[in-house]
Amino acid sequence: MTDTTNPTARAAEQHHQAPLVPVAVAYGDGIGPEIMRATLRVLEAAGARIETHEIEVGESVYLRGVSSGIGEDAWDVLRRTGVLLKAPITTPQGGGYKSLNVTMRKTLGLYANVRPTRALAPFVPTTHPDMDLVIVRENEEDLYAGIEHRQTREVYQCLKIVTRDGCERIVRYAFEYARAHGRKRVTCLTKDNIMKFTDGLFHAVFDEVAAEYPDVAHDHMIIDIGTARVATRPEKFDVIVTLNLYGDILSDVAAEVAGSVGLAGSSNVGLHAAMFEAVHGSAPDIAGRDIANPSGLLNAATLMLTHVGQQDVAATIQNAWLRTLEDGMHTADIAGERTKQVLGTQAFADAVIERLGQTPQVLTAAAAGESGRIRLDVPKKRAPIAKRLVGVDVFLDWDDADRKPDVLGERLSAAATAGLRLTMISNRGVKVWPHGHEETTLTDHWRCRFEGSGDVTNRDVLALLASVEAAGLEFVKTEGLYEFDGKPGYSMGQGQ
Ligand code: NAI
Repeated sequence: MTDTTNPTARAAEQHHQAPLVPVAVAYGDGIGPEIMRATLRVLEAAGARIETHEIEVGESVYLRGVSSGIGEDAWDVLRRTGVLLKAPITTPQGGGYKSLNVTMRKTLGLYANVRPTRALAPFVPTTHPDMDLVIVRENEEDLYAGIEHRQTREVYQCLKIVTRDGCERIVRYAFEYARAHGRKRVTCLTKDNIMKFTDGLFHAVFDEVAAEYPDVAHDHMIIDIGTARVATRPEKFDVIVTLNLYGDILSDVAAEVAGSVGLAGSSNVGLHAAMFEAVHGSAPDIAGRDIANPSGLLNAATLMLTHVGQQDVAATIQNAWLRTLEDGMHTADIAGERTKQVLGTQAFADAVIERLGQTPQVLTAAAAGESGRIRLDVPKKRAPIAKRLVGVDVFLDWDDADRKPDVLGERLSAAATAGLRLTMISNRGVKVWPHGHEETTLTDHWRCRFEGSGDVTNRDVLALLASVEAAGLEFVKTEGLYEFDGKPGYSMGQGQ
């Protein structure tokens, strides 16, 4: 029986009685099963209050003909648990298979990809021993919408989709994360000097949201210099928030600079679910040999424990793991000057288990802070915005032998209708009519801008397209030119 007058015994009793958190677990492919076994052994020994439910995803599912790599039964478990610890999976070579990661992120709305990257010098060699940053990457939008088309013989395009709510969610997440983890600064990285609408929106939303967090410092850098600084002065950064593609590249740069790409875990977090995994892949070259480093998945598991409110267990595991590294107990991939013993996967897990309850002597110990799951409000509905059609960009596939913009200008001016007149032609974004420059490289893809003098309707656009078609010109797509609350929702041509 528990002595309820003894606070330690009382805490242990409460701890014992806390309900187990159901967690889906995917053993993955290649080294997946062995690093997952090692990780779960450490979690169990550390007293993680979780109940695991195995799901099958990855290669075996792909090879059964399920192109997404995940079956309906697995989705059911995921919907029930809302939390997944996932080992890496192998995507079979050849066409037809979809990225399971992208499918899961988008289906479950896992909008935030969070990658803490910390140097472990001198135990893992790095030129930046004080580096300790977190990259919060938008996970669902941007060029990863995967909307690509070949429009002409020469021109291919990929649509960059960015939404206000998507920007607000990720930026807010970054500030909430900074607060919850006692971090002091959030840096936003964009390329809004070039992409004034998409990246410009991300930056503008960042400035708006930052004003609500006066206790957290904030700044903005253009992504190119920002990435260069992460590579050369990473210790100057704290939390970074950025768009999907930049975050993807930057997090690998950061992991490499920390010297620990194989050690990093990451979380993919949404409003209803979260997925935790190592940064690396399934390493088929070393699978089944008990030499893989389980640290990436173990770190992902500690992020998961923090997410489900078990920061105490997460800190215990982190500290034992740091102590194991300090003691020179290393797997082969990180073996170096400080290594005393090279251990296999399971022996490394045993070494961590032996050190549960110990803390690192040199590296900064993890603390079981308040930082649990970050809760975010779904963005509020906004005031109505007046939208008005003022013109249309008609994209042509035109491959006249001479590619003379003035010839096209003349033909299109003649085809213009009463409602819409030709105001500009650009080629790969550069204005080539009126008054283009002979030096400009020309392709077979022409953006022809037509603007109305008053309100324009879709009927005007259809009449224009019929006229362009009758003039023997081939349109491949159109983009409406809209004003929102009187402000243009489209960019000018370069040189316009
Ligand atoms: P990889 O990360 O699996 O391996 C790259 C190199 O790092 C290999 O030499 C490997 O032996 C080594 N390595 C990786 N993890 C290690 C660990 N824990 N301990 C020791 N050494 C480790 O990348 P690769 O070879 O490009 O991809 C292999 C497969 O993994 C592919 O099918 C790919 O699609 C998949 N993949 C899956 C991911 C996921 O499920 N999240 C992420 C990245 C790749």
